[in-house]
Amino acid sequence: MKRNLNKHRILILGGSGYIGNAIYKELGPYFRTFGTYRTPKKEFTTNKQFFHYNVEKDDVYEILQVCKPTIVVSALRGDFHAQTIAHQHITEYAQQFGTKIIFLSSANAFDAYSKYPSYELDKTLSHSIYGHFKIKIENMLLRLPSKQVAVLRLPMVFGINCPRIQDIKQLIAENESVEVFPNLIMNVTLDKKVTQQIHYIINRNKSGVFHLGSTDLVHHDEFVKHILSFIASKQVVLKQVFTTNEDRYLAVLPKFNRLPKHLQITSQTVLEELQK
Ligand SMILES: NC(=O)c1ccc[n+]([C@@H]2O[C@H](COP(=O)([O-])OP(=O)(O)OC[C@H]3O[C@@H](n4cnc5c(N)ncnc54)[C@H](OP(=O)(O)O)[C@@H]3O)[C@@H](O)[C@H]2O)c1
Repeated sequence: MKRNLNKHRILILGGSGYIGNAIYKELGPYFRTFGTYRTPKKEFTTNKQFFHYNVEKDDVYEILQVCKPTIVVSALRGDFHAQTIAHQHITEYAQQFGTKIIFLSSANAFDAYSKYPSYELDKTLSHSIYGHFKIKIENMLLRLPSKQVAVLRLPMVFGINCPRIQDIKQLIAENESVEVFPNLIMNVTLDKKVTQQIHYIINRNKSGVFHLGSTDLVHHDEFVKHILSFIASKQVVLKQVFTTNEDRYLAVLPKFNRLPKHLQITSQTVLEELQK
């Protein structure tokens, strides 16, 4: 891909995190890319492209003023109230300077619906605090001029040694049971695919709401059992968690804002990548 170093200045809030850091590594060679970290680690404290930032204590405006990003990627975790205020400030900055905001949202924006998978234009509705929080930020951002916003709704993200798989490995090592949700039907994705999708959205100046889940759906328990089949060398005890009696969907499928074929993914590809 063409090097485009001068075109954008990209600030990744949460650049030290699992997905944020994968995005930093994907975009770094092509754009002036900056990131934030909260937990001091040498990798970030010695990297001049990184700013220390604690959403509960620091004003994001100060980083925005120093960094002057043309694009902000929000890949943060942290206190929801503090994150809401930070996103208000980012929105005000974007109104003033025309900055684009790419927000990592979640399939949980639909967790109150259980009977069907969700598409981009469906009304969001959540019963969880996390889902509520994501919807609140989405709605705040979606009031900006449409070209300035990309809301990316992600399902569970996997990758080789991702935090979820590390947690499972830890449970196995400690002879603990692994939780599965047998009546949860979901879609999944791969970290590498998400970063390529974001790169494409930036290069092609795409905006709007994107559903970045695999094109097919999987049962949570079957998907986890597949993963266990290649990461566990011993018998693993499964703890079956039933939240409802009937099948429940937590899946974000694309219909209106589809990415090209090579940027779509199936659950089978996710599993194949995890086995590499
Ligand atoms: N992972 C998934 O499957 C998934 C699915 C759907 C949506 N998402 C969304 O994707 C985003 C990134 O998730 P992730 O899994 O990559 O999370 P993660 O690995 O936990 O990374 C979170 C990032 O936020 C930073 N952070 C945490 N608390 C903070 C605070 N108080 N102040 C400032 N920064 C703080 C962390 O900094 P330090 O590490 O330096 O402390 C890190 O850079 C989140 O918004 C999440 O809701 C993730």
